[in-house]
Amino acid sequence: MKKTSSARIAGTGSYVPTQLLTNSDLEKMVDTSDEWIVERTGIRERRIATADQAASDLAYEAAVHALDDAGIEGKDLDAILVGTVCGDYLFPSTGCILQERIGARNAFAYDFAAACSGFIFGVGQARSYIVSGHCRRVLVVGVETLSKLTDWTDRNTCVLFGDGAGAAVFEPCEAGDGILSVFMRSDGAMADIISLPAGGSRNPITKELIDEHANKIHMRGNETFKLAVKAMEHALVEALREAGVRQQDLDLLIPHQANIRIIQALGKRLDVAEDRVYVNVDRYGNTSAATIPIAIDEARRSGRIGRGSLVATAAFGSGATWGAAILRL
Ligand code: UT7
Repeated sequence: MKKTSSARIAGTGSYVPTQLLTNSDLEKMVDTSDEWIVERTGIRERRIATADQAASDLAYEAAVHALDDAGIEGKDLDAILVGTVCGDYLFPSTGCILQERIGARNAFAYDFAAACSGFIFGVGQARSYIVSGHCRRVLVVGVETLSKLTDWTDRNTCVLFGDGAGAAVFEPCEAGDGILSVFMRSDGAMADIISLPAGGSRNPITKELIDEHANKIHMRGNETFKLAVKAMEHALVEALREAGVRQQDLDLLIPHQANIRIIQALGKRLDVAEDRVYVNVDRYGNTSAATIPIAIDEARRSGRIGRGSLVATAAFGSGATWGAAILRL
C-alpha cells in the first residue's frame, strides 16, 4: 500500500448499555450519598451492562455506527485495534470476536491494555499503520465493562465507573489534516496505583483471592487524581507543541472523563474556557478507554464539532499510562 502523510477520522460511533445506575441506587448499596458523589466526582449516573452483555457486544454496536458513519463495510478494514482491560476473555482477543461479527475478513485484529489511555494509544497505532502504508482503513475501539470488575462493596471505587464503547474509523489524509500529533507515555513504577491484582499469571484465581476481592479493581484514588492532572497537562502541552497549535485555537478539549474536578483543573491549567471543555462524566461515569471516543462521537453527532474542528484529547490510566492527541477533524 502507498505511504501517506497522515490519518484522519472517517467515521465514529458509540454505545452505552440502557441499564442506569444512579447515585441514589448506590446509596442503597454502600455508605455514600448523592451529595458526596456529585461534589467529589461530578458523576450523577452511569450505564451498566446486563449479565449477558460482554465487551464485544458493546464494541459491536459502536463499530457498526462508526462503519456506517464512514460509509464503509467491515470487509473494507485492514486492522481492528481494541483498547480494553475488560475483554470478553483473557484470550481470544475481543478484537478477533468483533472482527468476526462485523465481517472484517481482510483485517488483522488484536487487543491492547492501556486502560484509560486506550483510545489515545489506539490513535497512535492507527496513525503508524496508515502513514507507513501498512493499512488503509483502521478501526480503533475503546470499550470497557468495568462494572464486571468493580467491587460493589467498596465505596471508594464503586461510585466511579460505568460501561460503554466508542469507535472511530481512520483513513489516509494529507499532512496538516487529521491526526496532527500524538503523545504517549507510561511509567511502570506507578503500576500499583490502579490494578486488578488477581486473575492473571501473577495471582491465578483462587477461592481465597475471590474472598479477599483481589479479582476486583483496586485504586489509590487521591494519588491517581494528582498524577492524572499533572500527566495530562504535560501530555497536552507536548502534543500542542508538536502539532504547532495554540490552546486558544482549540474548538474543543476532550479530557478523559474520570472526575469533574480533574477535567476542570486541566481546563484551568491550560487556560481553555469551560465552554470549550467537554463533559459527560455526569451521565456515564468513568468508562476508561471508552470515554474519549464516546465524547468525540457525541460531540460530532450533536454538531458541536465537525469537519475542520480542532480537537485536543488527553487521558491518564492504569499502568500508569498517559497521553494526548491533537486532531483536525
Ligand atoms: O481513570 C483512571 C484515573 N482515575 C482517576 O482519575 C480517579 C482519580 N481519583 C478520584 O477521582 C478521587 O480521588 C476520588 C473521587 C476517588 C476520591 O476523592 P478524594 O477527594 O481524593 O477523596 P479521598 O480518597 O481522599 O477520600 C476522602 C474521604 C475519605 O474519608 P476519610 O478517610 O476522610 O474519613 C473516604 O473514605 O471520602 C471518603 N469516601 C467517600 N465518602 C462517601 C471515599 N469514597 C466515598 C464515597 N462516599 N463514595
